[in-house]
This record gives sequence, C-alpha cells and structure tokens, in this order.
Amino acid sequence: MLLANNNLANMSMGEHVVQGSFSSCSIIPLITDQAEGLRRMTQNRPVRVIAVSSGKGGVGKTNVSVNLAMSLAATGQKVMILDADLGLANIDVLLGLHPKLNISHVLSGDCSLADIILDAPGGIKIIPAASGVSGMAGLSNAENAGIINAFGELENDLDVLIIDTAAGIDKSVLSFCRASQEVVVVVCDEPSSITDAYALIKVLNKEQGINRFRILANMAHDLKEGRELFAKILKVTDRFLDVSLDFLGAIPFDIYLRKAVKKQTAVTQVFPRSPSAQAFNMAAQKINKWPMPKRPGGHLEFFVERLINYN
Ligand SMILES: Nc1ncnc2c1ncn2[C@@H]1O[C@H](COP(=O)(O)OP(=O)(O)OP(=O)(O)O)[C@@H](O)[C@H]1O
Ligand SMILES: [Mg+2]
Repeated sequence: MLLANNNLANMSMGEHVVQGSFSSCSIIPLITDQAEGLRRMTQNRPVRVIAVSSGKGGVGKTNVSVNLAMSLAATGQKVMILDADLGLANIDVLLGLHPKLNISHVLSGDCSLADIILDAPGGIKIIPAASGVSGMAGLSNAENAGIINAFGELENDLDVLIIDTAAGIDKSVLSFCRASQEVVVVVCDEPSSITDAYALIKVLNKEQGINRFRILANMAHDLKEGRELFAKILKVTDRFLDVSLDFLGAIPFDIYLRKAVKKQTAVTQVFPRSPSAQAFNMAAQKINKWPMPKRPGGHLEFFVERLINYN
C-alpha cells in the first residue's frame, strides 16, 4: 500500500510542478486534481484480510481476534471483525453485545451491510455471527453482485478485516481461510492442539493451495515456550509439506485475560498492562510490518468473490 500510495503522491506532486509552471490560473484545477488523486488513493487502499483459525477448538481464536483487533486499532488502523463461526455465538458473547441482525438479513435484502455492523469498545467494528455466509455459494448472480458491492463500499473505511473462524477443517473454515490473504493458526502446547494445527495446515495447503501460515502460540508459559512450540510444528511441516511458517508471537497464559472474559470484555481494554495485553500489542506491531497485499487480492470485493466462488 505504501508503495502504491507513494507513487500516487509523487504523480500528483509531479502534476503540481508541471501545472504550476504554466500560470497561476491553473491553481484551481490543480487543487481539484490533487483532491481527486487523494480520493482515488483512499478508494484504492488495500485491506488486509486475516483469518484466525485453529485445528482444535477452545485454544483462544476469539480472544485473539478481538484483542489483536483492538491492539491494531490502537496503532491507528481501522479494524473490523467478521464473526465467521457459523455454529456458536462468539464475539457477541465475549463482548456482551446483543446483535439483532446478521449477514443473513443482508442476503435476504432486509437491510444493508452497514445496518448490521456493531461498534465495539476500542474503536473496532463487528459483523455479527454470519450464519448466512455458508449459503453464499448458492446465491444468484444479482445477489452475489449485491453482497460484493456491499463489502466493496466498506473498503473506504477499513484497513484490516479479521475473520474469527470456527475450529477444525469443515468447508466453511476452509473457504474463509482460502479467501483471506493471511492465515493465523492459533495453537497451544498440547499434543492434540499441535496435531490438529498440523492437520489444518496440511488440508489448507493440499486442498486450497495456501502455502504461508502465521503461527500464534497461545496460553504459553513464556516467549521461549512459544518459540519451542513453533519449532515443533515447523519441524513436521518442513519434513512433509511445502509451506512457509512464520512465528507471529506467544500470548502468555494470563489470569487477567480470564478475568476480562468473565467481565465480558477484552483484556487489552480492561487490563492494558497485563502480560497478555502487551503480547497482543507486540503481535499487532508485527502484523503492521507484514507486506501489504497487492491488488487485486487486496480488495474486499475479491475476498467476497473468492468466498462466493468456493465450491
Ligand atoms: N492467553 C490466555 N490465558 C488464559 N486463558 C485463555 C487465554 N486464551 C484463551 N483463554 C481461555 O480459553 C477459553 C477459550 O477461548 P476462546 O473462546 O477465545 O477460544 P476459541 O478458540 O475461540 O474457542 P472456539 O473454538 O469454541 O471458538 C476462554 O474461556 C478463555 O478464558
Ligand atoms: Mg471462538
């Protein structure tokens, strides 16, 4: 995004020099040109789409999604979470929200996407449990176009879309991961979590062609344990799969996070100095340094298109 924006900025600065050298009467068109350039710049900004997934359930995906979103928002990013666990209510319960509408109401034409978006603490926005999204494969062309445009309109006001998926390897999880640009696999240091994380990575690689994964160790004792857990997974994937794994970080096991969950809030909001909140902030800083997606995959319309075209 930086490169693209810089290029645009240079182009409009270039116009400035050339136009300015003709006459002072050209100042008004110049301002219009720059305004147009800026408008195009913001319209075209890519959105990071990050799926947060895991092989085994209950390893912390929803807490990771919400707290990473809030940490990213604190760095100035505009962040939205799509609650994509089609089975269980997740984010609304964690944050004590009570959504009346979800994506199924958008699909049925009862309301617009903007109507269902909830404002959550920390300046983030939530698209509530998307029970209708599993039906996206069966939509008509017109419905497809409608939903794609609805997401496309969000783009102007968004930097990061985080998808909180269900656990496991069912079709909806695979389709959300496949449609995203980044897949964060949350894993704990337990044999079943490690085995299931490997199984998820394997299926996403072999069946969906995904070859880059970001590993986030959750409920780790410390950073060292998190790195060791990452090394364990890397050893197996290096041996059997052609994938690249990247260590996103380690979130410590933290009683403050549990206290926050009981209060139906996020640890980064209520206990910002707690060990887990600090670890989420570090992971967010790392995410901010990931290269920005290049178009066209960096646009929300394309995310939804890939989601819809999944069979
Ligand atoms: N770093 C942590 N320290 C302590 N407890 C944690 C931590 N992360 C998650 N938990 C606890 O683990 C439980 C499950 O977390 P969460 O709901 O985020 O998992 P999940 O992967 O989204 O679950 P599901 O697969 O059911 O969607 C929560 O009750 C939370 O209190
Ligand atoms: Mg969850």
